[in-house]
Amino acid sequence: MAETFEALVLDRVDGRTVWRLERLPVDRLPPGDVLVDVDWSCLNYKDALAITGAGKIVREFPFVPGIDFAGRVRESADPRFRPGDRVVLTGWGVGERHWGGLAELARVPGDWLLPLPEGLTTRQAMAIGTAGFTAMLAVLELAEQGLSADAGDVLVSGAAGGVGSLAVALLAGRGHRVVASTGRPELADWLRELGASEILKREVLAEPSKAPLESQRWAGAVDTVGGTTLANILKATRYRGVVTACGLAGGAEFTCTVYPFILRGVRLIGIDSVYCPRERRERVWRALVRELSPAVLERVTSEISLKEAGERAADFLSGRVRGRLVVRVQGGS
Ligand SMILES: NC(=O)c1ccc[n+]([C@@H]2O[C@H](COP(=O)([O-])OP(=O)(O)OC[C@H]3O[C@@H](n4cnc5c(N)ncnc54)[C@H](OP(=O)(O)O)[C@@H]3O)[C@@H](O)[C@H]2O)c1
Repeated sequence: MAETFEALVLDRVDGRTVWRLERLPVDRLPPGDVLVDVDWSCLNYKDALAITGAGKIVREFPFVPGIDFAGRVRESADPRFRPGDRVVLTGWGVGERHWGGLAELARVPGDWLLPLPEGLTTRQAMAIGTAGFTAMLAVLELAEQGLSADAGDVLVSGAAGGVGSLAVALLAGRGHRVVASTGRPELADWLRELGASEILKREVLAEPSKAPLESQRWAGAVDTVGGTTLANILKATRYRGVVTACGLAGGAEFTCTVYPFILRGVRLIGIDSVYCPRERRERVWRALVRELSPAVLERVTSEISLKEAGERAADFLSGRVRGRLVVRVQGGS
């Protein structure tokens, strides 16, 4: 009998996306030169859009979602990888156009894989996942734009989410005074434990205002929310402040005048984790190993099963996930 592997499989039924756990033959995997035994995966906002069908992430069905995975190489036609090597993958369209990590096996081009960064377990790599990777990308951009630790308040929006919570911890670890904006005041103590100095209610930033500029408050910002929140952040960013935009949990469109840019020299930096070049990826992972303590990472992480990955996906869209969800596929270190 053909060898099989367990996967979370998406299908389209009566115009709706549905998920199920299914055993699939190994030869159903897409082409690629490296076959990986997946130990851990994780859930990100984009996975939630794919699994629930709320976003047009997946276009061909049946499909295995999961934009991230970490595990051990089983077979490799790529000379850079040997059986037994531990590897990590985030992005590259995996879980969107190429079958993803929410399965016991994944087959991908070797170019998309990185050796597991030294000092991390496969579980920790997935506790970080695309969300933590993106948080560090944003933090590095702020630093490269010249934002120093003594520059003043740095805002993180969507602070209790995956990108947000890790951005809070990373910025606080670098000595910034972090203001965490959240719609969940009940998580204020948890955000303070991660390093937030102040908590701001989500509504303060979500309310549309006609004023082209507000009083100058933010030296820098990591925005995971987009929409009106991003417009309001830009209006209240200080002279030569830096705002990184990575998300759309609150909306994809925003309306803003050019005044923050031409009167205050505000810089708006876009963050993309999916096609981030390999050298920068290695730099981001090195910084994560250096700066993110295992204790902090554990504090933001909850562990779920493959089945729970299907069940919990909708929680992202209603903003009910705290921090990171790591998915136990086969376990392992
Ligand atoms: N550009 C990239 O490469 C990249 C990479 C990773 C993620 N992203 C994007 O970044 C965003 C965050 O991703 P994630 O994985 O961290 O998701 P997440 O864990 O669901 O975090 C999003 C957070 O945004 C807040 N939020 C949710 N709905 C909201 C609404 N309607 N209005 C205002 N705030 C809302 C919530 O935080 P509070 O409860 O604290 O308010 C929520 O926890 C997503 O839009 C995702 O697509 C982009």
